[in-house]
Amino acid sequence: MRRMTSADVDAVLGIESAVQPYPWTRGNFSDALLNGYLCYVDEQSGEICGYAILMPGAGEAELLTIGVAAAAQRRGLGRAMLNEMLGLARDRQLNRVFLEVRASNHAAIALYRSAGFSQVGLRRAYYQNANGSEDALVMACDTNFFPGIRETGDENG
Ligand SMILES: CC(C)(COP(=O)(O)OP(=O)(O)OC[C@H]1O[C@@H](n2cnc3c(N)ncnc32)[C@H](O)[C@@H]1OP(=O)(O)O)[C@@H](O)C(=O)NCCC(=O)NCCS
Repeated sequence: MRRMTSADVDAVLGIESAVQPYPWTRGNFSDALLNGYLCYVDEQSGEICGYAILMPGAGEAELLTIGVAAAAQRRGLGRAMLNEMLGLARDRQLNRVFLEVRASNHAAIALYRSAGFSQVGLRRAYYQNANGSEDALVMACDTNFFPGIRETGDENG
């Protein structure tokens, strides 16, 4: 993964609009870059395959979005990117990462659970959908204990 730049926004928007029912706008991505959020892309052979954005706060962070191009899904990329973002948070002493996810987004919920997230709240009718609205699950992960990253350093200590 590498830092996203404004030159990547077109490619990221292309993925986002293909895989998200209510996609972020160009302005959303530009604002995230301008605000200095941790915006990353996964690039393979010159092609952007995925992206993730983490908003740092005081001692914690929020994962604002993560997406993988349809053709690259189910190959472990989402999990790898999520683990990297959790590692970036931990490196910055951001001890907890929160996120909100549509209750109907079973793929993302399974990904988050497998990475160590658990549900800590529910926002009723938080998202717009074809039937009117749907709930958001609020999930959180402790970056010191998430299973994606092994502790390194002194073997004896
Ligand atoms: C959610 C998303 C990022 C997962 O990316 P991915 O690269 O396909 O995920 P991975 O291959 O790393 O899968 C990791 C785990 O997620 C779960 N998962 C991923 N896709 C799934 C699917 N379609 N159905 C059920 N579980 C799924 C599985 O538990 C999987 O582990 P497994 O392969 O060992 O069973 C991808 O589906 C996506 O971009 N979705 C649209 C955008 C979105 O919903 N983003 C999250 C909300 S902001």
